[in-house]
Order: sequence, then structure tokens, then C-alpha cells
Amino acid sequence: MNENVRREMYDQAKEWVLKSGEIIRDSLNEQRIIKSKEARNDLVTDVDKKIELFFVKEIKRTYPKHLILSEEGYGDKEITGNGTVWAIDPIDGTRNFVNQKKNFAVSVAVIHQGVGEIGFIYDVIEEVLYSARKSEGAYKNNKRLGNLEVKKELEEASLSFNHELLCESDAFDRNAMERIANKVRSVRSKGSAALEIIQVAEGLSDGYIAKKLSPWDVAAAIIVLNEVHGIATRTNGNKINLFEEGTIFVSNKGIHKQIVLNYLKDWQRKLI
Ligand code: IPD
Ligand code: CA
Ligand code: CA
Repeated sequence: MNENVRREMYDQAKEWVLKSGEIIRDSLNEQRIIKSKEARNDLVTDVDKKIELFFVKEIKRTYPKHLILSEEGYGDKEITGNGTVWAIDPIDGTRNFVNQKKNFAVSVAVIHQGVGEIGFIYDVIEEVLYSARKSEGAYKNNKRLGNLEVKKELEEASLSFNHELLCESDAFDRNAMERIANKVRSVRSKGSAALEIIQVAEGLSDGYIAKKLSPWDVAAAIIVLNEVHGIATRTNGNKINLFEEGTIFVSNKGIHKQIVLNYLKDWQRKLI
């Protein structure tokens, strides 16, 4: 993508992201409509829908040729890897939004010809905006984030993943996760994939592992992470296609290879 086009889109998207945060903050004390989706733990509220619709309307009005890949169904049904695609999660961490009224984020990515160009993760309650443009660095509000460590002992590392990875499963080898948990210094779980990847980008955590995430959960945060020289792959070490769902392992360079080779490569059982 041309640098000027990227900057113009960045400014426009930033305005929408900040506005979406304002709408969410204004709605915090209203009565919520909360529904469960297919999985019992998968929630959606009236605010998730309102925010997604807000982005879809603005994007379609301003960039009619762009496609939108989003969680709540207001985006496009058919996405090809060509052209410009927006990956949008109106609220990542809906369970936290409902239960805690904090620890959730708006996540917006712009992908052009399959390449992540612009990423925004907005921690709405803290009013912290993480952003990045490809090859132009990553920022926390207006402060540039430094590059991540390249050397780290596993024993010193702090990781994050959900408790479900430690539960019995036909699809994954829980023992591998137990071995990792025993090896590293600490394991945390925040409940928002976007914010957990951002914590890695900020150097507050050394890695994040998840078994099944969608493009809107991860695209924007990966774009930010790339700018601080973090690594994002599938858990078997394979490259991520930003339009596909799948496992994810993000970390600094110091521990990525060790964890993939020693713990995660065969973590996903061969039968699936
Ligand atoms: C969820 C969160 C959560 C992760 C789930 C995601 P949502 O997104 O990121 O941390 O474990 O897999 O689906 O539903 O709150 O947008
Ligand atoms: Ca999400
Ligand atoms: Ca969501």
C-alpha cells in the first residue's frame, strides 16, 4: 500500500476508533441486552452490535470498495484476499465488558493484498490507544514502543493462556501446557486476546497461546506486534494467514523457537 494512502486511512480509522470508545463509555451505565451465541461462554451485547454497525456504515460510506471481516455479522459474507479488507472486533473481551466493565478493547485492522497495514487496539476504559502502520513503528498513545527482547530464559518468562488449555481435550495435548506452566515463571489470563497480544508487544508479557481465534481477534494486535519485532505464528510454527482462523502463539524472539520446538509443535493432536 502506498505510504500516503496508508497515512490517510490511518487518520480516518483513528477518528472512528476513538469515537467508538466514546460511544462505549457513554453506554456503560445503560441496561444491557446480553445473549449467548452457540457456545455458552460466547456472549454478544447490544453494544457489540452497535459498534460493529457504526464501523460498517462509516467504512462503506467512505470506502465503498473495501470489504469487512467482522464478528457480529454486519460485515461482508465473502472475503477474498484481494483488495483492502478491514478486520473488526467491536469489543474483544465481551465477558469482561459485561462482568467487569473494563479489560476489553476495540480492535481494528486494515489488510491490503493479504498484508497487515494498519492496526488499532483501543483499551476503552483506560483510554489507551495502541496503533501501528506497517514499517512505521508501533505506538501507545503518542509514545513509540521499543523493540522486544531477543534473549530470555524460559524460567524467567511470563505467559498468558486460558484455563481451557489445561483441561482434558481430544483435540490438544493438555500435558504440553502443563509442562510449559511448570517451566515458566508465571501464567496469566486476561480474557481479551487483543489485549493479551498487546501486552506481549509492550513487553509486559513474554507470550500468548490460544487454540482457536478468528482474524478479527488477532489481526490488529499482530500488526502492532510486528512493528516491535515480536513473532506471531500458529502453534506449530507455521505462518499465519490473516484471513483464516486457527491456533496462535505470539512471543518475543527470545522464547518463540524454544516453546514451539519443545512444547507446541505436536500440541495439536494429529487426529484433527
Ligand atoms: C474472545 C476473547 C477471549 C478469547 C476468546 C475470544 P470476544 O473474544 O478474546 O479472550 O479467549 O477465544 O473469542 O468473544 O470477547 O470478542
Ligand atoms: Ca474477540
Ligand atoms: Ca467480540
